[in-house]
Amino acid sequence: MEKDIYILAIESSCDETAAAVMKNGREECSSVIYSQIELHKLYGGVVPEIASRKHIEKINPVIKEALKNADKKLSDIDAIAVTYGPGLVGALLVGVAEAKALAYAAGKPLVGVHHIEGHIAANYIENKDLEPPFICLVVSGGHTHLVKVLDYDSFEIIGRTRDDAAGEAFDKVARAIGLGYPGGPKIDRLSKEGNKFAIDFPRAKVDGNEFDFSFSGLKSAVLNYLNQSEMKGIEINRADVAASFQYAVIDVLTQHAITAVKESGLNKLAIAGGVASNTSLRENIEEACKKEGIEFYHPLPIYCTDNAAMIGAAGYYNYLKGVRHGLDLNAVPNLKIGER
Ligand code: KG4
Ligand code: ZN
Repeated sequence: MEKDIYILAIESSCDETAAAVMKNGREECSSVIYSQIELHKLYGGVVPEIASRKHIEKINPVIKEALKNADKKLSDIDAIAVTYGPGLVGALLVGVAEAKALAYAAGKPLVGVHHIEGHIAANYIENKDLEPPFICLVVSGGHTHLVKVLDYDSFEIIGRTRDDAAGEAFDKVARAIGLGYPGGPKIDRLSKEGNKFAIDFPRAKVDGNEFDFSFSGLKSAVLNYLNQSEMKGIEINRADVAASFQYAVIDVLTQHAITAVKESGLNKLAIAGGVASNTSLRENIEEACKKEGIEFYHPLPIYCTDNAAMIGAAGYYNYLKGVRHGLDLNAVPNLKIGER
């Protein structure tokens, strides 16, 4: 029997300080997430300097807890995986410096991981049978991509947003209707009380690539609707606005994803990123996949938002492919997908 591979994974690219121990890429031994959301709420968004300082404070206790919960010592670990981009540079640096120090002290290999490749790999934890190739819709606070996952370490971007990311649109519209930060989960909840057909918000068509997205026009349409209603003295039904906005986003995401799967001939669709935890998006895509006979894969909501288990899953496959980083590994805030 082959030896089990244990990866200690670290994630600190935005406002979650996270560590996990993963066995053979798909089995979670432990996963600890310290969310800084409460800290940033006051400012209506993530404040990079505050995020970095909190990461420094939390990173050691979070890693210690992850090792303890997995009943592992650093000496039991085969490699240390860490997110080194994309993300906030100061936040990324905390995780990268920590991973390098641990790798050096314990004499373990260091494996740098791309944050979005981590989000995609979250699907492997939930779905033990999922293997590339497949299409993945990546929808987070910073990214909206349609990705053809050719292999565990090979990706082709077939569509991307031209302006705002889907999560960013959720956050901005939530702020405009007074829901606060982070907006995604709040719009998700409030939408359940509203009518998604109440307001016909636009679905942006983008010239050039049928798989690209644009959400800034939709965001402006919501803001215009709110301003005009106020000027005319019409009372705003926030639940209807939330539901109609959410439906406009979901409709476009679903259509593009389904068309991409059909054109690729791959017949497998996965979703990833914070917005992939949206209940209506999951339902809508599930229904569309059923209709089209497409296999639909999705991570548990806790693996959709930022966590280290997904970094451990991606790190495991990078490790198997022989990816090793030196102690000169640096944070790369605009790291391209598939880059090593
Ligand atoms: O993947 P993530 O945790 O961080 C990034 O890598 O960006 O995604 C965070 C984003 C935020 O914009 C948040 O509002 C959104 O995901 N989000 C949601 C939901 N939960 C989180 N958007 C819609 N519905 C949700 N339930
Ligand atoms: Zn993320």
